[in-house]
Amino acid sequence: MPTSSDALVVLDKVNKHFGDLHVLQDIDLTVARGEVVIVIGPSGSGKSTLCRAINRLETIDSGTITVDGEVQPQEGKALAHMRAEVGMVFQSFNLFAHKTILENVTLGPVKVKKEPKGQARDEAMALLERVGVANQAHKYPAQLSGGQQQRVAIARSLAMRPKVMLFDEPTSALDPEMINEVLDVMVTLAHEGMTMIVVTHEMGFARKAANRVVFMADGRIHEQATPEQFFTNPQSERAKDFLSKILTH
Ligand SMILES: Nc1ncnc2c1ncn2[C@@H]1O[C@H](COP(=O)(O)OP(=O)(O)O)[C@@H](O)[C@H]1O
Ligand SMILES: [Mg+2]
Repeated sequence: MPTSSDALVVLDKVNKHFGDLHVLQDIDLTVARGEVVIVIGPSGSGKSTLCRAINRLETIDSGTITVDGEVQPQEGKALAHMRAEVGMVFQSFNLFAHKTILENVTLGPVKVKKEPKGQARDEAMALLERVGVANQAHKYPAQLSGGQQQRVAIARSLAMRPKVMLFDEPTSALDPEMINEVLDVMVTLAHEGMTMIVVTHEMGFARKAANRVVFMADGRIHEQATPEQFFTNPQSERAKDFLSKILTH
């Protein structure tokens, strides 16, 4: 387990309700700098809410969430600053439809970080090169495949130089043949040392890139283990039941 000095994201007794639904229940989770954590669990268990809370897209009712030692601000400029430190990639690619691929990637650095346009453009082209879509820079999102769009979404997040990247089921909206081109970018990112929290059921990615698997069900963390331990020898009944369902198809 990480020590407090290299902890990058720390959730301490985080609780959240949606009305009567206790969607996050006393969540304690520490993610170390450079660590890759997979969050897995049944639909409705609170995985997306967890990601959104870390990125402050959702408020929490109690507990604290710190990113690099700073408690998350509630609002205003401090919040915009914090959001820039936490990149997020969603299941739906969420690119701006009426902007080109290049504009999608330069927008944040220019508007939020006040980077000079030329510099933002050079950095964006380098990132698009890294994710393998530099030759699509002047097209619009609808002209790209789902896999290409999701790689652009990753480049767009990276352009803000985040300290941690959150991925919420980044491949579950993709046609099967496009899943690996996105996972390959994520594996490379993990091997380069990016701190990542990834909601995914892709066991291949978990085995190649993850340090730890966190199993969630009903708003709680039931189990944490290495990918090898978790997938071959889950301890809790909930995890055994869940794995028996996803492994049979
Ligand atoms: N904005 C919301 N308002 C009310 N209920 C919500 C909202 N967002 C999510 N929920 C509920 O919270 C639970 C957890 O949702 P979610 O975090 O999306 O789970 P997961 O990502 O694990 O499938 C679900 O029962 C869902 O219906
Ligand atoms: Mg979800």
